[in-house]
Amino acid sequence: MASLKIFGPFAELLSFQDASNKGPLQDEELTIHKAYGILVDGSIIKSIALYESLVADYPSIELIELPKSCTVIPGMIDCHTHICFGGTRARDFAMRNAGKTYLEIAKEGGGIWDTVKQTRSATEQELVDLTIKRATVLLQRGITTIEVKSGYGLSVSEELKMLKAIAKANKKTAAELIPTCLAAHIKPKDFLGDHAQYLNVIAHELLPEIVSQKLSKRLDVFVEEEAFSQEVVHPYFAAAKMMGFNLTVHADQFHTGGSVVAVEHQAQSADHLEASGPEEIQLLAGSEVVAVALPGASIGLGVRFTPARQLLDAGCSLAIASDWNPGSAPMGDLMAQASILATYEKLSNAEVIAGVTYRAAHALGITDQGRLSSGYQADFNVYDTGDHREITYQQGQLRPIMVIKGGEVVFSAV
Ligand code: NIG
Ligand code: FE
Repeated sequence: MASLKIFGPFAELLSFQDASNKGPLQDEELTIHKAYGILVDGSIIKSIALYESLVADYPSIELIELPKSCTVIPGMIDCHTHICFGGTRARDFAMRNAGKTYLEIAKEGGGIWDTVKQTRSATEQELVDLTIKRATVLLQRGITTIEVKSGYGLSVSEELKMLKAIAKANKKTAAELIPTCLAAHIKPKDFLGDHAQYLNVIAHELLPEIVSQKLSKRLDVFVEEEAFSQEVVHPYFAAAKMMGFNLTVHADQFHTGGSVVAVEHQAQSADHLEASGPEEIQLLAGSEVVAVALPGASIGLGVRFTPARQLLDAGCSLAIASDWNPGSAPMGDLMAQASILATYEKLSNAEVIAGVTYRAAHALGITDQGRLSSGYQADFNVYDTGDHREITYQQGQLRPIMVIKGGEVVFSAV
C-alpha cells in the first residue's frame, strides 16, 4: 500500500488507451474521461477510473489533489533530438537569413562540421552539463522521455565521449534519455578516406564498443547528397543489424532516398521527410516505419513542412519531434512547433498529441509509455485548463503545472 497514490481529480483525462498507431485520428474519436483520477503503484499506472470511486476504494492512501479544472495527458516523448552539443551556430542562422545557401555556409566554416569542432573541444563533463540543462528545459514543458543523438563527435573516441556524456546526464536528470548513435551524420573532414571506408571504420571499431559498454541500442544515418548515399548505408545497416541495433534514418530532408533505406531495413522511424513525394509516402504507409515530422527544422531553415496530412491520410503512423540541434532547429520547443505544424498541415488536436506521446513512443520501440493505461509507466502532464484543446491552441505557451515521471512529481508550479 505504501507506494500507492491517487492523482486527480481531472476535468479531462486523455488516455489514448485504444487509439490506433497508424492513420488519421479525428478529435471526435478521442475518449475524454471526465472527473477521473490516476491510481499509481510505484512507477506504474495501476488504473484510471472515476476519482471518487478510486478514493472510496483506497481510503487511506496518499492523495495528490489538483486544482478543480485540470487536464491530464501522457508525458510527452521527444523522439528526435541532438541536445548534446557544444557551442552555437548563430552565425549560420544569420547567414541563411542573409540568403546564403547551405553549401556556401559550410564552405565558410559553418554547418555540422562547425558543431563537431565545438563539441570536440568541450570536455565530457561540459557535455553532461549542457545536456542536463537542455533536458531540464524539456522536462518542465512536459517532455518526460527524450531521445538524444550523438553525431557531433565523428571519430571513435569523440562519439564515445558523447554517448558517455548522454549516459551520465541520464543518471542526473529526472527525464529519461534514450541514446542514439549518429556517427554517420557526415563524413568528418579529417577522415582520410571515402564514405564507405568511414562507415567501415565505425562499424568495426565503434559499434562493438557501444555494444560492450551498453551505450546505445539505436543507430541513425543521415542519407543525403551532402552526407551518405543509399549505397554506402546498406552494408553499414546490415552490419549494425547483426550486432542487434535498432535503426532510424534522417530521411528525405532535401532529396529523396532515405525513406527507401528506412523501409528496406525495417527501421523504427524515418525522420524529416520534407522532400517526400507521393511515392515515398505510399512506401512508408505500406511499412511499419514511423514517419517523424520535425517542424522545428522547417522553421529553423525556412523550408516546407513535412507533408504530415498526406502521410496520415495514406495510413502512416506520424510522430512529431523537435530535432533540437544548434544548426537547423535551435528553438527546441516541441509543443510550439507541433502546434504550428498543425495549422499548416491541418492536423487535429488528437493527431498532434498522439504524435508527441504514444506514436512517438512507437517510433522509439517503447511499448509502455505514451498512453495512460494500466501497466504503463506513470508519466503524465497536468495542465491548468478544463479543455485539452487549449494545449495546441496556445501553441506551446500553456505549460504544464505539474509533470510526473515514473510516479514522482518532477516539476510542480502548483
Ligand atoms: O536533423 N539533418 C541532419 N542533421 C540535423 C542538423 C544538424 C545540424 O545542422 O547541426 C537535422 O536537421
Ligand atoms: Fe536531426
